[in-house]
Amino acid sequence: MTNIHNCDCFDYMKECPDNTFDVVITDPPYLYLKHKLDRQFDIELFCKEIDRVCKKEAIVVYFGRGVMFGKMACELSCYFKFTEEIAWNKGHLSNPCGTIGRIHELINIFVRNRKINKVFNSEINDIQVNNDYKRILSSIKNINSYDDFIAWQTTMKPKSIKHAIGATKMQAHDRGFETYRKYKRGSLQTTIIDTQREHFKFIHPTQKPLELIRKLVRLTTQEGDMVFDPFLGSGTTALACKEMGIKCVGCEIDAEYYQGALKRLENVQSTMELVT
Ligand SMILES: C[S@@+](CC[C@H](N)C(=O)[O-])C[C@H]1O[C@@H](n2cnc3c(N)ncnc32)[C@H](O)[C@@H]1O
Repeated sequence: MTNIHNCDCFDYMKECPDNTFDVVITDPPYLYLKHKLDRQFDIELFCKEIDRVCKKEAIVVYFGRGVMFGKMACELSCYFKFTEEIAWNKGHLSNPCGTIGRIHELINIFVRNRKINKVFNSEINDIQVNNDYKRILSSIKNINSYDDFIAWQTTMKPKSIKHAIGATKMQAHDRGFETYRKYKRGSLQTTIIDTQREHFKFIHPTQKPLELIRKLVRLTTQEGDMVFDPFLGSGTTALACKEMGIKCVGCEIDAEYYQGALKRLENVQSTMELVT
């Protein structure tokens, strides 16, 4: 189920029953651009409404920067618990004329009685391979036969590290073994996500890459969840959810962006129909 509405999200939420959504993934107006998409909104009221329309077990993910990003974190922390911050490395400058070359955007994740998922990715780049193979070699340097190697693979146990920070003794693993395991099952999602923008497919000035939103959906949702994006823009959240079989509701106030989002969603349906 994917339902998107051409309306003000505050009006929509007013009519929305309590405890409706499991996950909110949204990219609110930044509150500093001079552009039609950057409408003012009341952050305090927004967080109050999000608290009400979200279930008791819920996750809120939002994009932003600067004052809006910080204010939203303060207000949300009245209802949810901060769990992680992700930097999206865009790989290009937001503004080529800026004093500092800004190439990232921030994403905050807040939770309530719920945890984010452990996600393993299989993308591995050349620099990683060079570093990783040295680490694996250093861990298996005493292995002289295939049998030794099998024994190393199967008997490797978490190592006790006396002064591990941010990890319990049982969680602190041998680094060589962990690196090797990464090649077997993929590497744990890190707090930096590198994803290029899809320039040629843009219909919205701040459209997020589909792959980035897919990763956020993977990190936060369970089967049967209902996702809400109150500031939908070109519909990227709804599109990612639809592709991944997750229910999603979205609001977009601007008629042009709303129409664009509808079109993108129609295309997903037709691609799926072609495949089946
Ligand atoms: C930063 S953009 C979101 C872009 C989106 N992530 C994407 O991939 O296309 C924010 C969007 O929120 C919309 N918006 C602003 N105020 C709104 C409101 N009160 N209700 C619904 N939509 C609103 C703007 O028109 C804009 O398209």
